Amino acid sequence: MSKRVAVVGTGYVGLTTALSLAYIGHRVVALDLDEAKVRALKQGNPPFFEPHLPEMLSLVRDRLSFTTRYEEAIPGAEVVFIAVGTPPSPEGSPDLTQVQEAARGIGQNLGEGFTVVVNKSTVPVGSGNYVEALVRRAFQEAHGGEVDGRFAVASNPEFLREGQALYDSLYPDRIVVGAEDRRALEVLRELYEPILEQSFPAPAFLPRPERMGAVPFLTTGLASAELIKYGANAFLALKISFINELSALAERVGADIQDVARGIGLDSRIGPRFLQAGLGWGGSCFPKDTLALLAMGREYGLKLSIVEAAREVNRRQRERVVEKLLSELKVLKGRTLALLGLAFKPHTDDLRESPALELARLLLDRGAFVRAHDPVALPRARREVDLPLEYAETPEDLLKGADAVVLATDWPEYRTWPWGELKPLLRTPLVVDARNHLDGKALARLGYRYLGMGVPALAPAKEVV
Ligand code: UDX
Repeated sequence: MSKRVAVVGTGYVGLTTALSLAYIGHRVVALDLDEAKVRALKQGNPPFFEPHLPEMLSLVRDRLSFTTRYEEAIPGAEVVFIAVGTPPSPEGSPDLTQVQEAARGIGQNLGEGFTVVVNKSTVPVGSGNYVEALVRRAFQEAHGGEVDGRFAVASNPEFLREGQALYDSLYPDRIVVGAEDRRALEVLRELYEPILEQSFPAPAFLPRPERMGAVPFLTTGLASAELIKYGANAFLALKISFINELSALAERVGADIQDVARGIGLDSRIGPRFLQAGLGWGGSCFPKDTLALLAMGREYGLKLSIVEAAREVNRRQRERVVEKLLSELKVLKGRTLALLGLAFKPHTDDLRESPALELARLLLDRGAFVRAHDPVALPRARREVDLPLEYAETPEDLLKGADAVVLATDWPEYRTWPWGELKPLLRTPLVVDARNHLDGKALARLGYRYLGMGVPALAPAKEVV
């Protein structure tokens, strides 16, 4: 049954939610206060790089509209998603200014029927109650009178990954909804039914994964749903930090962390994913959510030691790369380092909390010149990055005269660069692969010295001159 939906915020979460709900048949209005963004979206141009957004925008044109005005989006909606940004504030807890504004806009414009207000932004436990109070107050200030029974608040955490946002929304591992009001849970179950049953036709550009069954729908109280989001992200972050910590030991004892991870991950209780050792995690979620979790712990008088340790290991991981370069090149001052990748992971141009940029900063602090390449993030880097980096558009420009290659983001195309032909451009044929992404043995055969993270260093093959 088609529902009328409003989505406040058109970032990764908001826009993806709006698109996938429109795709499965609902009528959706997406709201953003940024007029330029809304204008671009109306013309079919997404405000950030993410696979398949333009195709999806044109597919759902009839069911998805965009506006900057609450009074256009809210009154007719049965479900209103809050999907605005919650950037970290200086002390670590998320800044809820945009959530407050959204709650106010929603409260002032509540329609006649029953509305479910859904928190999709990642917000600290207790925010559901807070949003409810804000909506109630805004309604009463605007209209007077009683708002009871007109709306309920739910939490519906989003687990999508950038770079696979639409895929993750259409084919999720689970949908989690928390609310104290039974009607709200029922409305959301109906809303998601085509996804829960996987009854929609898959878009041609996003085929349904093989063996995809019905999607589990987990209903909980508000606080549990809110904590699930933080728990899931922190657990993934600490899984990566664990393998990174072990990778340092692997190096000392002469083990290969890739084999170790494979052996550990084959235990079905552990699982193979998120055990890729490297430069550590970044992006807009793990750093922010682990920090917020620590802040929440402090607020309640608890020290979350494992989360703290995961963050510390993650920070150390960038330093390990600097130490490798120092031990090979002795001094970094005045050296030119060719940095492969700037985005926080491949398939996105998102630079927020990018490990590549944190590494670049450490190298610049040591007096090195850092010249960087990225297949999609260069334009964004030129606008947003406040570091004295040089940017290179081509492999040749990147590598000319460089003292070492440092791979920071595992873009697939770096594996297929013609490393043999490029080698003469370098001053030193040294590769530090901070994501264990390149074929080290092939590089050594071509005459490179190859260092990864937690894998044995490879010397250039002898016969190469
Ligand atoms: C993450 C969660 O996966 C998602 O469920 C949540 O909703 C938002 O946060 P995202 O930040 O888009 O998604 O990226 P993800 O693919 O999880 O990668 C996060 C970081 O971990 C990246 O910097 C990536 O390079 C790093 N990573 C990931 C590793 O270093 N090793 C791994 O094995 C996996």
